[in-house]
Amino acid sequence: MLGSTLLGLLFQVALGQTTGDSVSDAFIYALPAGEFMKTKMRLYYKYPDSYNGFAINQPLMPDETFTAVVAPNVDTVYAAGIFDLAASPRLITVPPVLDGRYVVTDFVDPYGNAPFAFNSIDIPQGGDYLIYGPSTSEKDATTFGVQYNATVIKFNTSDAMVLLRARHNATDPQQAAALLSSYNATRLLPGTDVPRLQRFNEIATQMTEFGLEFPDVGLLATQYENSIRNATIGWKWAMMGLKYVEPSTVADTEYVQKFQNVIDQAQNNATYLLEIASRVPAIVQTISAGTRQIGTLFSTGWSATNSPVVGKFGDNYLARAAVAFVLYLGLAPSQAVYFQTTIDPSTGKAYNGSHNYEVTFVSNQLPPVEGFWSMTVYYGVGDDSYGYLVGNPIERFSIGDRTPGLIYNSDGSLTVTLSATRPNTTAGAANWLPVGANRTFEVFLRAYGPTAGIADFAPPQIKLISK
Ligand SMILES: *[C@@H]1O[C@H](CO)[C@@H](O)[C@H](O)[C@H]1NC(C)=O
Ligand SMILES: *[C@@H]1O[C@H](CO)[C@@H](O)[C@H](O)[C@H]1NC(C)=O
Ligand SMILES: *[C@@H]1O[C@H](CO)[C@@H](O)[C@H](O)[C@H]1NC(C)=O
Ligand SMILES: *[C@@H]1O[C@H](CO)[C@@H](O)[C@H](O)[C@H]1NC(C)=O
Ligand SMILES: *[C@@H]1O[C@H](CO)[C@@H](O)[C@H](O)[C@H]1NC(C)=O
Ligand SMILES: *[C@@H]1O[C@H](CO)[C@@H](O)[C@H](O)[C@H]1NC(C)=O
Ligand SMILES: *[C@@H]1O[C@H](CO)[C@@H](O)[C@H](O)[C@H]1NC(C)=O
Ligand SMILES: *[C@@H]1O[C@H](CO)[C@@H](O)[C@H](O)[C@H]1NC(C)=O
Ligand SMILES: *[C@@H]1O[C@H](CO)[C@@H](O)[C@H](O)[C@H]1NC(C)=O
Repeated sequence: MLGSTLLGLLFQVALGQTTGDSVSDAFIYALPAGEFMKTKMRLYYKYPDSYNGFAINQPLMPDETFTAVVAPNVDTVYAAGIFDLAASPRLITVPPVLDGRYVVTDFVDPYGNAPFAFNSIDIPQGGDYLIYGPSTSEKDATTFGVQYNATVIKFNTSDAMVLLRARHNATDPQQAAALLSSYNATRLLPGTDVPRLQRFNEIATQMTEFGLEFPDVGLLATQYENSIRNATIGWKWAMMGLKYVEPSTVADTEYVQKFQNVIDQAQNNATYLLEIASRVPAIVQTISAGTRQIGTLFSTGWSATNSPVVGKFGDNYLARAAVAFVLYLGLAPSQAVYFQTTIDPSTGKAYNGSHNYEVTFVSNQLPPVEGFWSMTVYYGVGDDSYGYLVGNPIERFSIGDRTPGLIYNSDGSLTVTLSATRPNTTAGAANWLPVGANRTFEVFLRAYGPTAGIADFAPPQIKLISK
């Protein structure tokens, strides 16, 4: 009795962001871990050898029928490796980038914590990076580090991800992909390789334990919708994450124990699972409110992921869930700041492609970056394709610093038109960012490699100009 009271107190203290309700807390805690399990399954399904290296995991350029994968953006080629550090530490060899291309190397745990990240502007020469987890002693890691002259990076979890992003323009995506293909990940302990498909089969077995089926992984657009919107499926992933993703800190371990009975009941009692699933919409409201903790909310309708908590969540589980919810595996603010706007502040409703909008960046007030910036449109809230790129006849999904032929106003400002039909002025057409006719949309503004000026940067309001 006394023991459990003390434990209760401990949770209160450890959890700045608790809702005090074990069902809500369990979901908030476990959401990133569930996203991780899904991500891992997608990767191992598409690239059965990726446990042993990197997989380029984004089609190079989307087209207007691009619906099979939610596209993070159209500016960078992505690659990812998910490494099991329980078997062996890894030596990640990063190639030099000497042509000025912007490349980010991001070391990240399943919860979105980033023990280390750097880009090719700061470190153009590449180099060797040793990553190790809890099953390797600090002494052994140090010895390897010296042996390979590598920067040593410690993970609290045996699952480690290395995410790579290389900027490209319209003409050089293949070159960017080739660069990412030259990264190497070497197992340092011999004989620790696993057979092809073993990791895939392990996760498939774990899925069965929770009644998850393969379509729930969400490889196709409709399946993806289900895997993020269906609360029952969402719970199953969260529970699987709770069970199979190692906690990151001592406080996490204690917290997870508290959820064991939620998992046990939900696994054994279908009625209980439905009951907690019915609570998900309310929990999602809490998580959405948590976006306040990941950065600035501007009166112009934009929010930013500029808080130092991003990528270093500690016990701020609500912020961690908020990032997993809006931008799982988004970069920490040292590497990229993401601005997002979903609701038009002038109407209080989602931006709507039945109307025309304009946004003007005044002279010298483009996003301050040394990497790149871009503004990308996605279908918006309430749309069946929420989160997907907006297909369009000119195959333009974003406007940014590499968009050819932009026309600036005579005072040096840049006006972008967001409309479903092609604007009827030369500058309007040149700076046109198409949105879906009579479809809602939302906008992301990415600032990669932000400079110090990002602290003072506020994205301009997207203004309704006509019905
Ligand atoms: C990765 O390994 C391949 C094959 O051994 C080699 O050609 C390539 O240069 C290596 N990459 C780096 C960055 O060292
Ligand atoms: C070890 O790596 C550092 C930078 O990563 C480099 O400056 C140094 O020359 C390397 N030493 C050897 C012996 O290769
Ligand atoms: C695209 O990038 C390549 C290599 O980074 C560069 O040589 C080329 O000039 C760029 N093209 C445009 C249109 O910016
Ligand atoms: C959620 O998924 C479950 C299992 O696949 C299915 O039985 C249920 O009908 C789905 N619920 C909704 C609201 O789509
Ligand atoms: C790893 O664990 C230590 C000790 O609990 C903690 O201080 C650190 O923040 C953890 N790192 C991450 C990335 O969670
Ligand atoms: C299953 O869960 C429901 C809803 O919480 C509960 O009323 C019922 O008693 C549970 N059944 C068992 C066998 O525990
Ligand atoms: C978009 O605006 C039009 C015209 O005002 C309206 O008829 C339509 O319902 C709106 N669409 C959505 C999805 O809100
Ligand atoms: C050009 O577009 C504007 C804004 O959509 C509209 O008000 C105007 O009538 C159009 N002019 C012509 C000639 O189509
Ligand atoms: C726009 O979409 C709404 C549903 O969101 C529909 O009721 C309306 O008829 C549509 N308007 C046009 C012009 O297609």
